[in-house]
Amino acid sequence: VILTQDDLKKIAAYKAVEFVESGMVLGLGTGSTAKHAVDRIGELLRQGKLKNIIGIPTSKKTHEQAVSLGIPLSDLDTHPTVDLAIDGADEVDPGLNLVKGRGGSLLREKMVESACKRFIVIVDESKCVHFIGESGLAMPVEVVPFCWKFSAQRLQNLFEYAGCVAKLRTEKESSSRPFVTDNGNFIVDLYFKEDIGDLKIASDKILRLAGVVEHGMFLDMASTVIVAGELGITIKHK
Ligand code: A5P
Repeated sequence: VILTQDDLKKIAAYKAVEFVESGMVLGLGTGSTAKHAVDRIGELLRQGKLKNIIGIPTSKKTHEQAVSLGIPLSDLDTHPTVDLAIDGADEVDPGLNLVKGRGGSLLREKMVESACKRFIVIVDESKCVHFIGESGLAMPVEVVPFCWKFSAQRLQNLFEYAGCVAKLRTEKESSSRPFVTDNGNFIVDLYFKEDIGDLKIASDKILRLAGVVEHGMFLDMASTVIVAGELGITIKHK
């Protein structure tokens, strides 16, 4: 049997849901991998195999999906402590640091996932990298729309040493209409030609810029990473 990338995403997602117990407050991730986990949680609830779950969605999209599955929902205002969150990632490095936000939901994801006791990341093996930025994919930064060009330029200047190029994310590649996040902000995607070095320093520098709301590096947050590959499942613990 040849497994597709989507099969691998589903395998990782189903494995993560084995750690869900009745009565938990659950952070529900966003993206094509997390979608499988949310589907599975809905299925187990329907079958009565899980009970009294409260979901905290990390995006409007996941909120809609969970509603359609009949998963009871709440938010961090009402449930400030989350037992477990399950979500995908765009890159995972050997220290279990992540890049997230290719789907644009990084801010709500980071709010929910930094409020949880345990954070399980689910990926297919293509997401595992030696260093953050290696895949050549963007590192997203959520910025306020006000003077976003100014913010994009300042972000690019911060990482000049790594050959950074900052681009405003648009709805479609062909359109010039900015992609708007669930929070009404824009996303500036940073592309690096070289390793950006110390991630904590990079993170602090980005967050110090007025106009930046959040970035897609999730440092020291994942407790477990479940990787599904052609040869099976690997579980990495912090
Ligand atoms: C959403 O903004 C992201 O953080 C996703 O969790 C991440 O991009 C992984 O998405 P896929 O599971 O679709 O690859």
